[in-house]
Amino acid sequence: MTRDEARKKILFALDVNGLAEIDRYAELLSGKVGMFKVGKELFTSCGREAVTTVQRRGGEVFLDLKYHDIPNTVAKAMVEATRMGVQLANLHALGGAEMMETAATAVRKEFGDQRPRLLAVTILTSSTAETLRGVGIDHPVEQMVVRLAKLAQDSGMDGVVASPLEIGLIREACGPDFLIVTPGVRPAFASVDDQKRIMTPGEAVAAGADYLVIGRPIAKADDPSKAADLIVDEIVAGGQ
Ligand code: C5P
Repeated sequence: MTRDEARKKILFALDVNGLAEIDRYAELLSGKVGMFKVGKELFTSCGREAVTTVQRRGGEVFLDLKYHDIPNTVAKAMVEATRMGVQLANLHALGGAEMMETAATAVRKEFGDQRPRLLAVTILTSSTAETLRGVGIDHPVEQMVVRLAKLAQDSGMDGVVASPLEIGLIREACGPDFLIVTPGVRPAFASVDDQKRIMTPGEAVAAGADYLVIGRPIAKADDPSKAADLIVDEIVAGGQ
């Protein structure tokens, strides 16, 4: 794998405060990472300026808003996300087949090949078997993850967001072309923070991840740009 291919796999989690910080990281890291992940907190506080601030610095955006609503509403939200020119956007697979199909069809119809890749969240990694039982789902988490990944694929999604430990099962069920995006990645040089079930970047890519969501190991480093380079090294070394 080339360094550029490895770099494109890094999705930097922009868990920062305000537009000035977004701008600082976007300037520092465009060209060093593949994309910038804008999540609910940042989007709620800064609005679409969060996206345009990254784009002005030449960065690409993963809009991580995890839509879950009636099919018509999710489809329209996805179309609006696409109009912002983001490269990845997501929804919750638990919204069901019709919701995912309606969104995928609306985006494909309006934007064709110029569309973002659409991802589904299966079961949040914060959920346990007990969480699922509480909402009336009596199946093991791993079974639900695979079931929802297949449902997402059959409903026109391009891939899923998943824990590193679920990569193998999803790859097996959904084949080589289905995108797998994984957080919970910790480079050898970084602290684990509050992440529990982790893999290194090299391990995650070797296990079949297409993209890695990485925040604090880059953001909290003394030299974020150098940290991103070190992660590229790890992917190149471990992904062979
Ligand atoms: O700083 P860190 O690398 O832990 O950031 C990971 C990012 O991925 C955060 O934005 C976090 O919310 C997100 N995430 C996660 N675990 C999940 C789902 C999302 O860490 N299961």
